[in-house]
Amino acid sequence: MSNEYKLINGIKIAEKIKDEIVKEIIKLPSRPNLAIILIGDNKESCLYVNIKEREARKVGVDTHLYKCAENISENEILKMIDCLNRDNLIDGILVQLPLPKKFNTDKIIKAISKEKDVDFFHPENLKLLTISHKNIKILPPVFGASMAILQDIKCKIKNKKICIIANSDIFGKNFAKFLNCLGAQAETTKIGDKNLTDKTKNADILISAVGRKHFIKKEMIKEGAALIDVGIVKEDKKIYGDIDAEDVKEKAGFLTPVPGGVGPLTIAMLFQNTLELYKIHKNINHHLLL
Ligand code: GUN
Repeated sequence: MSNEYKLINGIKIAEKIKDEIVKEIIKLPSRPNLAIILIGDNKESCLYVNIKEREARKVGVDTHLYKCAENISENEILKMIDCLNRDNLIDGILVQLPLPKKFNTDKIIKAISKEKDVDFFHPENLKLLTISHKNIKILPPVFGASMAILQDIKCKIKNKKICIIANSDIFGKNFAKFLNCLGAQAETTKIGDKNLTDKTKNADILISAVGRKHFIKKEMIKEGAALIDVGIVKEDKKIYGDIDAEDVKEKAGFLTPVPGGVGPLTIAMLFQNTLELYKIHKNINHHLLL
C-alpha cells in the first residue's frame, strides 16, 4: 500500500452507487418501497431517518415512516412489523437503532421477515454471510460501505490483517467472520481489551466503530494502514469520528473522514439493499437469497 496519505471521499463514491441505483430503478415496473420504524425522540435517530427519507427521494425509493411514541408497547411494535411483513407493497423494513432501553432489540429485529430485512441483521441472514459469501448481493449497510471503500482504493483484503474495534458483537464478530471467509485475517477488539493497541498496530486495515471522539491516535496504527472510521460523535453541533485525522495523517495510508466518509455510503447501501429485496420480492433476477 502506498504511504501517500489519501482522504477518501465517501460522498463521491456514494453518488456513483446512487447513480447506478437510479438507472436500475427507472427501468422497473414500480418503485421499491421501504418502511422505516422510528421509536421515541432520540435526536440523532430522528436526524438519520430524515436524511434517509430525503436521500430515498433522490433515487426513486418510496419510504413509509412509522413514527411511534416511546410509550408504545413491544407487542404493538411486533404487531406492526407483522403487518408490514404481510404487506405486499413493502419490500424492505428498517427499525432505526438504537431503540429506547426498555425494548428487546434482538426480538424486534428477529420479527422482521428475513426477506424484508434491509439491514441484513436477522440471524438467518447473518448466517448467509459465511455460507454464501461469494455471491451475496446484500450486506449489512456498514459492511457494504466498508467494502465499497476498500474497492475504491483498490485494497485487496486477501491475507490482509484487519482489526475491527466495535462495541457491538452483531457488527464486529459478524463482520470479522465475513472478511475471514473472503481470505482476510480479521479479528475484533473492544474498548477495555488490554491487547487493543497491539491488535490495532498490527492491522493493514483498521475499522473503528466505537463512537469515541478522536480515540485512535498515530501510536495505535501501522504505517500506511487504511483506516475506516465508522464512529459518529456529536458534540456542540459538530460531528467527530473515532479517528484523530490530524494526528494520524502523516502515518496513515488511507482515511475515511467524518463526516463525509462511511455515513453517506451506508445510506447508499441501504437503497441498494432495498432494490435487491424488491427484485427478489418481484422475482426479477432472482439469484440471491436461498
Ligand atoms: N442506526 C445507526 N446505524 C444504523 C443502521 O445501519 N441500521 C439501523 N436500523 N439503525 C441504525
